[in-house]
Amino acid sequence: MKRIGVLTSGGDAPGMNGAIRAVVRCGLARGLEVYGVYRGYAGLIAGEMSPLGDRDVGGIIHRGGTILGSARSPEFETEKGLEEALRQLNRKGVEALVVIGGNGSQSGAYALWRKGYPVVGVASTIDNDLYGSDITIGVDTALNIALEAIDRLKTTASSHQRAFLVEVMGRKCGYLALMAAIAGGAEAVLIPEIDADPDTVVGELRDAYVRGKAHALIVVAEGAESNAVKLAQHFKTHRATLGFDLRVTTLGHVQRGGAPGAFDRLLSTRLGAGAVERVVSGEFGVLTGLRKGEVASTPLDVVASTKKELDLTLYELSRVLAR
Ligand code: F6P
Repeated sequence: MKRIGVLTSGGDAPGMNGAIRAVVRCGLARGLEVYGVYRGYAGLIAGEMSPLGDRDVGGIIHRGGTILGSARSPEFETEKGLEEALRQLNRKGVEALVVIGGNGSQSGAYALWRKGYPVVGVASTIDNDLYGSDITIGVDTALNIALEAIDRLKTTASSHQRAFLVEVMGRKCGYLALMAAIAGGAEAVLIPEIDADPDTVVGELRDAYVRGKAHALIVVAEGAESNAVKLAQHFKTHRATLGFDLRVTTLGHVQRGGAPGAFDRLLSTRLGAGAVERVVSGEFGVLTGLRKGEVASTPLDVVASTKKELDLTLYELSRVLAR
């Protein structure tokens, strides 16, 4: 094998640049040519790729986002798009591809692999919902950003004896919300995995007010059945008895931006380097992730067909701690 490609796909995550850097430099060190593919699968279909050298990935490990750009590509999900992507790879002589991304991106990698094309995935998404990696690139940084916001909101909430609904990302997974709630000392958390009754939450806040709490923080996952908007509406109708005045803050894409922390710089470097090792040893059709602290492979068919479960004992713990 002489030439490989690397792309970032789906929602960007702080640390993606560290993974690109590791793939390029470790690949070059192993005698491979490394092509960067721009704008994820959309750019792949359009043939947007060029060779990357050591200097092209200099000064990026501390930068958020991805120097290659990213995209969500509905076209790649079609047979025509997939065939065109394969044609472009063959035309440029790219013999294997490293795909850095989350669930959708790894399903795309699996589609290429099913066509017989050699791929290796790298686990990267702030949602931490990807089977095959205990933690994925971007999670730690996104969590720290959410925590910083929660800490700040708490101080202003206390001054005014207010309740804040803080909505965090995570798609259909409550990991970010639950961890932010525990680490941020929130009064309640709503996640997609557990159906919470909004009336119960109202009751808990009322109790907290009566017990003399100066503030109440409720972390809401964007994918929760009662999302922040619905919950705020519900709270309004109970305003007279709630005690706390209410405000809503949606963190949104703030969690995806900015510089990766030390953990994500190291994780992305290890996983990028691990992906190159897999290419060199001919181990394809796998996701490179972190399991029990070690860089490990999981077959892409298993990744694509298995849901990563959230540890719900931590949800129970969050409730016990919110006293
Ligand atoms: O998958 C990462 C993520 O940030 C999710 O948490 C969120 O639901 C989604 O991407 C947002 O997607 P977009 O950036 O396309 O709006």
